[in-house]
Amino acid sequence: PKRIGILTSGGDCSGLNAAIRAVVYCAVGTYGWEVLGIRQATLGLMVRPPQFTKLEVDQVNTLLTAGGTMLGTTNKGDPFAFPMADGSVCDRSNEIIAGYHQLNLDALIGIGGDGSLAILRRLAQQGGINLVGIPKTIDNDIGITEHAIGFDTAVNIATEALDRLHFTAASHSRVMILEVMGRDAGHIAIAAGIAGGADVILIPEIPYTIEHICQRIKEQQEKNKNYCLIIVSEAVRTQEGENVTITNRLGQSRYGGIGEYLADQIIQRINAETRVTVLGHIQRGGTASPLDRLVAAAFGVAAVNLIAEGKYDQMVTWQNRQVVSVPIAEAIAQYRAVDPNGTLVKTARGIGIYLGD
Ligand code: F6P
Repeated sequence: PKRIGILTSGGDCSGLNAAIRAVVYCAVGTYGWEVLGIRQATLGLMVRPPQFTKLEVDQVNTLLTAGGTMLGTTNKGDPFAFPMADGSVCDRSNEIIAGYHQLNLDALIGIGGDGSLAILRRLAQQGGINLVGIPKTIDNDIGITEHAIGFDTAVNIATEALDRLHFTAASHSRVMILEVMGRDAGHIAIAAGIAGGADVILIPEIPYTIEHICQRIKEQQEKNKNYCLIIVSEAVRTQEGENVTITNRLGQSRYGGIGEYLADQIIQRINAETRVTVLGHIQRGGTASPLDRLVAAAFGVAAVNLIAEGKYDQMVTWQNRQVVSVPIAEAIAQYRAVDPNGTLVKTARGIGIYLGD
C-alpha cells in the first residue's frame, strides 16, 4: 500500500474539505493506502518534525459541508524566497523536500491555484516529489479547466447578495454597488451579475465610463425603475486607469475600494442615493455549492487514480463534462480572463445590462 500526503495551499475557498474527504475515501477506503494531511501548506513539511495528521475515513465523514480547510493553509512565504524574522529572505525549498522524504511519502496531492501549483511543481522537480495537482480558485482564472473548486460557491454567494440588495434598493430607490473578488479576472462579477439581475456589470477586461453608468441610472429613473444594481470586480480601474487598493500598516496591499470610488463619482454627477457593499471573504467561506462538491469529489478521486497509475506532474481538470489530466506546466501556463466576445458578455448585453463600452 502507498503512503501519500495531501496539502492545501494559497487562499482557502469552499470545497477544499470536500476534496480532502474524497481523497481519503478513495485512497484509504477504496485502495487501503495511508493518507497524511500536511498542515499549513508546505510549512508543515518545512518544520521539524513535519506537521501532519494521519487521516482516517471516520475523521472526514462530516467534512463534506464544512467550509475552509481542515489542514490549514497559507499564501504567505514562497519557499524559494521565504521571509525570515529579521526581514531577510531565504531559500528553504530543500527543507520542504527533506520533509517529504522524511515522511516516506510515495506521492503528494497539492490543492492550489496557479501560483501555489507553480511553486509545488518547482519543489517537485527539484526534489523528486511525485506531485499531482488539484485546481482551486474562486477567481476561476486557470484557463485549462472549466471549473476550479470554489468558484461556483463564490458565484452563488455573490448572486444571493444581489438578490437581497435588489429588495432594499427598490424600497429606497437607491443605487446599490456590490464589490466582489476575482483578482484580475471578472468571472465572479459577470456570472453573478447576470444570474442576480444586475443592471450594470463592471469587469477589469472591459473599459467603462462613469457617464454611461450615470446615463443608465437616469434612464431607469425615467422608466420608473427607480433603483439600480451595480456589480463591480475588485480589479476594475478608475477612469484614470488606476487600480484601487488598500494598504495596511505592514505595507501589504490588496484590491479594495473600487465600489466607494464609483459611488463617489456617481454622486458627484447625479442625484442618486448610493450605497456600497463589499462582499469580501464571505465569498470564500462556508458550505460549498453542490457543483463545487461534485467537482471536488471528482477531482479527489481522479488525483488518487493518477497516483495508482504512477502518473505524476499532472493536474486534474474539468473539460466537457469529464475529468482530464494534463501536465501541470501546461495547466498553469493558461490564464483565463473573461472573453470580451464570449457567451456571457453577449448574454449580458443581449438582456440590456451595461457592461462597458
Ligand atoms: O485569489 C483568491 C482571492 O480571494 C482573490 O479573489 C482576492 O483578491 C484575494 O484572494 C484576497 O486575498 P487575501 O485572502 O490574502 O486577502
